Amino acid sequence: MGSGTEWRDLTLFWGLMLGLILRPATAEICGPSIDIGNDISEFRRLENCTVVEGYLQILLIGDKNNNNINQEFFRSLSFPKLTMVTDYLLLFRVSGLDSLSTLFPNLAVIRGRNLFYNYALVIFEMTSLKDIGLFNLRNITRGAIRIEKNPELCYLDSVDWSLILDAEFNNYIAGNKQSKECSDVCPGIMENSPQCSKTMFNNNYNYRCWTSNHCQKEKCARRACTLEGECCHPQCLGSCSSPSSDTSCAACVHYFHRGRCVADCPPGTFRFEGWRCISAELCSKVHLPDSNSFYIHDGECMTECPSGYMPKTPSSMYCKACDGLCDKVCEEKVIDSMDAAQSLKGCTVIQGNLHINIRRGHNIVAELESFTGLIQRVTGNVRIRHSHTLTSLAFLRSLKHIEGRELLDE
Ligand SMILES: *[C@@H]1O[C@H](CO)[C@@H](O)[C@H](O)[C@H]1NC(C)=O
Ligand SMILES: *[C@@H]1O[C@H](CO)[C@@H](O)[C@H](O)[C@H]1NC(C)=O
Repeated sequence: MGSGTEWRDLTLFWGLMLGLILRPATAEICGPSIDIGNDISEFRRLENCTVVEGYLQILLIGDKNNNNINQEFFRSLSFPKLTMVTDYLLLFRVSGLDSLSTLFPNLAVIRGRNLFYNYALVIFEMTSLKDIGLFNLRNITRGAIRIEKNPELCYLDSVDWSLILDAEFNNYIAGNKQSKECSDVCPGIMENSPQCSKTMFNNNYNYRCWTSNHCQKEKCARRACTLEGECCHPQCLGSCSSPSSDTSCAACVHYFHRGRCVADCPPGTFRFEGWRCISAELCSKVHLPDSNSFYIHDGECMTECPSGYMPKTPSSMYCKACDGLCDKVCEEKVIDSMDAAQSLKGCTVIQGNLHINIRRGHNIVAELESFTGLIQRVTGNVRIRHSHTLTSLAFLRSLKHIEGRELLDE
């Protein structure tokens, strides 16, 4: 890392970035998901993105020896176009990154459509991070946050997460720099002219800010608002560049269609990935790593017909109700994580054995049930081991037959 070629590449990259910022904004959707690891030149993949459809992971970059090189690099790296991530944002062991304020200055919304365990924002073992600094982050639509083991991280007591997410009680914030060793100074306090609002939050009456330069802004009567505090159009989520217009939103409360935020997808278009409208033609062409065919049902473009429905013909992309039985047969599986469970979504028959071995996670029965709750028949055996945190078997509520074609001989 840190070779001459890489630095030349980066200079070129910066030339490009500047050109892009000066050009008029056009929405660019990146994905499915972006994984940046090991090599800092991979950041280039984010250069044009306004939305990351899927998750954004940045991890395992640098080590203690090239901390300084990274630091210089990160201080000049910025993705001001990025306003939304539809799944989750995860940062893990990125050395030299001391704030996200320059990197993602306009990130307004993390939707949490798919979560990392239960989290939409994960900041873990970030050795150099001093503040989070996502000063434009206004809404985490689903999921909680996990901020853990970041030894230099301050400005945690000065952010009111209840303004950003509803499931605040599921947040996990631990092992960061001790509050008493932080001297969180909100803008203006040193000059005796505090600029941020002082409100009651985190059991304290305090000033709200993200960094020493950025206050945490209030909403305007439960609505998104501009930087100046003017109300956005009701279909905007997060913020907007000009008030009262549905074409200038940072993100949408419901769906995005041809540059506008709309309450629902108009006729002839279909809801996709929980946030935008696409045509049937586009739906027939999407491919994701774990799914090659998409189906249209009830106004939505989805990876499979829902339970009780099947494709109209084997090659059709439309679904019809099954008359009578309509099994979804799945291969046998060891369920050792939420991910593994998710792969059984909608299955009614397990061909083979169903083994459950979940060692981590609390209050997961309900979520498990959403993936395994339709299983009616297992042709082999069912075995549940080591799963101490499962407090009930409700997640197998539909199970009627265990055929035991293959018995355990223990
Ligand atoms: C970003 O946009 C520019 C100009 O259209 C293009 O040349 C470049 O390849 C794009 N970068 C990525 C990662 O798609
Ligand atoms: C975030 O946005 C969603 C969708 O509009 C809304 O239901 C939720 O209340 C918002 N959360 C907060 C804390 O504003």
